Amino acid sequence: MLKICVLVSGGGTNLQAIIDGISNKTITNAEIVGVISNNRNAFALERAKKHGIFSVCVSPKDYENRELFYQALMKAVDEREPDFIVLAGFLVAIPAPMVEKYRRRMINIHPSLIPSFCGTGYYGLKVHEAALARGVKVTGATVHFVDEGTDTGEIILQKAVEVQQGDTPEVLQRRVMEEAEWKILPQAIEMAANGTLKIGEER
Ligand code: GAR
Repeated sequence: MLKICVLVSGGGTNLQAIIDGISNKTITNAEIVGVISNNRNAFALERAKKHGIFSVCVSPKDYENRELFYQALMKAVDEREPDFIVLAGFLVAIPAPMVEKYRRRMINIHPSLIPSFCGTGYYGLKVHEAALARGVKVTGATVHFVDEGTDTGEIILQKAVEVQQGDTPEVLQRRVMEEAEWKILPQAIEMAANGTLKIGEER
């Protein structure tokens, strides 16, 4: 059984897709051992509670400086003793020691086709605003391993989504979630839990 810790900051629809995937057996051999948020108002925490999943908030506001926050975050993650970490809309840069500890055991979902519209400053709705401003006809989502950079880790899965005339950032965001994110994130976890995706070691 792959023990997963999910890190969240907001609404938690990707967390929900994982929860649903486990209950409808699209994801097998995996369980969520904890949900951790940096934002105490994240609706994702409610989703975890509703499903009886351990959840905790580690907010930077409760710590004097970034270093102390990072230490608390890493402690909270380690306490769950996860095999695998999923960043599901987690909008905090991961500290280097945590990247090292969970190398090839930590994945992120990003709402564009990397290398487009990614890196520092590209998160959430901003990604879709940038895609529409550039006038791309196709966008999508990417699941990738987390390394020291921002959205630079090895790509695991991508799925394309068409931009439609008259799209607003909100409409496009929703379509990318429905058609891509909520599919490829559970799929990547299923692959990790069943040996199709090699984790925790160099290929
Ligand atoms: C998702 O669209 C996710 O891809 C994005 O934040 C949203 C979280 O939604 N992540 C990033 O932009 C990371 N750079 P959710 O809380 O409903 O899953």
